[in-house]
Amino acid sequence: MKKLLLPLLVMGATFIGSSAQAQFAKPEDAIKYRKAALTVLGAHTSRLGAMAQGRVPFDAKTATENAEIVAEMAKLPWAAFVDGSDSGDTKAKAEIWKDSAKFKDYAGKLQAESVKLVAAAKSGNQDAFKTAFGATAGTCKTCHDDFRAK
Ligand code: HEC
Repeated sequence: MKKLLLPLLVMGATFIGSSAQAQFAKPEDAIKYRKAALTVLGAHTSRLGAMAQGRVPFDAKTATENAEIVAEMAKLPWAAFVDGSDSGDTKAKAEIWKDSAKFKDYAGKLQAESVKLVAAAKSGNQDAFKTAFGATAGTCKTCHDDFRAK
């Protein structure tokens, strides 16, 4: 049994290590992957939005849990904008591949703001949380305006 365990652990570590640099057999797989990641990102952002707008009472613990998911998911979609995945069942605009520096910059802004959002949620300060949520949501809109088709 012990002999089996080590290779399995090593394999597990390899899978975890490569998960962020997603690789895809077909462009459709990349499109599915990024849309799934963005859907989860969107769901947890909405929950935070409800708190930021006072539709749901602010609660530091719940806000932190959701913000941590947002910060994690904010890392995932971008590696799936692979060459050849600009057509098909996607709203990604061709500009993503023409101006990939700007696209990456926007993705980086979301990541930076979502890290601040986690800190603000943890602080339990509702005003700080609202401000940080506004900044995070602003990065979604900026990128969608430029790079997502209506
Ligand atoms: C760097 C650019 C960028 C940022 C930042 C960004 N998005 Fe998007 N988003 C896109 C693009 C491009 C698409 C279209 C993807 C596709 O159809 O292949 C998209 C699609 C989506 C979708 C639809 C997914 C589907 O199933 O079709 C949701 C939901 C979404 N984004 C939520 C968010 C939220 C919430 C944020 C901020 C917390 C955010 N996005 C930040 C570029 C971005």
